[in-house]
Amino acid sequence: MKALKIKGGKKLLGEVSISGSKNASLPILISSILIKNSFQIKNIPKVRDVFTLIELLKFLGIQLKFDEKNRKVIFNKKKKLKIFAPYSIMKTMRAGILVLGPLLAKLKKAKVSLPGGCAIGARPVDLHIFALRKLGAKISIKDGYIYASAKKLSGAVIKFPKISVGATETAIFASVLASGKTRIVNAAIEPEIVDLINFLKVCGAKIKYSKQRIIEIVGVKDLNGKSYRVIPDRIEAITYAVAALITKGKLKINNVKINEVQNVLSFFKKIGATVISKNNHFIVYAKKKLKKFSFSTKPYPGLPTDIQAQLMALATSIKGKCQITENIFENRFLHVSELSRMGADIKIIKNTSIVNGGKILKGAEVMATDLRASVALILAALSAQGTSTVSRIYHLERGYEEIQSKLKKCGAIIKSCNVK
Ligand code: UD1
Repeated sequence: MKALKIKGGKKLLGEVSISGSKNASLPILISSILIKNSFQIKNIPKVRDVFTLIELLKFLGIQLKFDEKNRKVIFNKKKKLKIFAPYSIMKTMRAGILVLGPLLAKLKKAKVSLPGGCAIGARPVDLHIFALRKLGAKISIKDGYIYASAKKLSGAVIKFPKISVGATETAIFASVLASGKTRIVNAAIEPEIVDLINFLKVCGAKIKYSKQRIIEIVGVKDLNGKSYRVIPDRIEAITYAVAALITKGKLKINNVKINEVQNVLSFFKKIGATVISKNNHFIVYAKKKLKKFSFSTKPYPGLPTDIQAQLMALATSIKGKCQITENIFENRFLHVSELSRMGADIKIIKNTSIVNGGKILKGAEVMATDLRASVALILAALSAQGTSTVSRIYHLERGYEEIQSKLKKCGAIIKSCNVK
């Protein structure tokens, strides 16, 4: 099994260039189901979730080529599409569920496997189905598959009882070509959703959104695919910022949209870090000791669940008790037991972790459990005394492009190895 060996205690210094956003790339690539003509999507990261999605899109009949060197996906005019997304591909990537809305919108029929289980919680799809039913779809679930059909999708009011990124994307996909007006209430407004909206607008969709979590869509007959550049990955940017802070180093993080990370940069400043942001980069370091903190994960513009594990790694290096509450997923503290193996003192009470930090962690053999947990272990290992081995790094490869070489360039002592 592939693993990473890290010798900790080295300050990270230098510059990191942030790749395209994985979570924005996936829905934008999926939009290709709705589009007939040729077009290109740029700034696509070379990460495993993208490769899995490309396999799924090709299986569905989409004609595309991933120019990996130039990070762009080129779509050609499409032939007939299949309505069927099989379990064999869906089981490795939950975002595959996002093909359901576009298939239904375009082909009026879809048979899509329920996505595979996920370590961080149950992650149901009821809100996706709720949205599609509101637009007039008939849906049943049998033998692990969602069967959806609709003679016609018609605009409607979709008032979500809970904020969901994926279900909001499904609602958008299914209503851009529906007849009439759709109003999505209590929508997710993450930057990745705004990027999807911006892309669809460039292609001719009629969509408006507001910070009050309302998205209004007037259905159009067809979309005309246009060249588009995906936003940078805000979660990757913040992960490297934590790498600078946890190693007491200084990094310049290039290729970011400052307004999309402002919520977290303000948090860093509040706990005593120095952050200098300009145009499309920011510099981050700590002149003095960081202050202990408390925070809860929330939908955007709150602090995202996708940086909770990284901030927990940071908390282990700060003197005093930090309190971290996870509100989005019910089982997203899997990194706690691994951080404890490195000497961290963390107690879990329901959905809150209390980190009694300030002691230097010790290198250990640890195991990654999910994407963000695995990067938290890498961060902890970078700050620890001695050598750590992080196994099951295939989780990491799902969402971090070239992490090993990016860290190495900033001075990290890191290499690949194999473990049993
Ligand atoms: C997306 C992101 C993921 C991020 C998450 C929350 C992608 C590919 N993934 O995941 O990185 O951590 O947003 O910001 O963009 N829920 C239901 N029913 C549903 C759907 C969701 O109850 O039908 C619940 C989930 O269990 C969770 C909450 O809603 O408790 C939010 O999940 P959601 O925003 O849907 O996450 P994803 O879109 O799967």
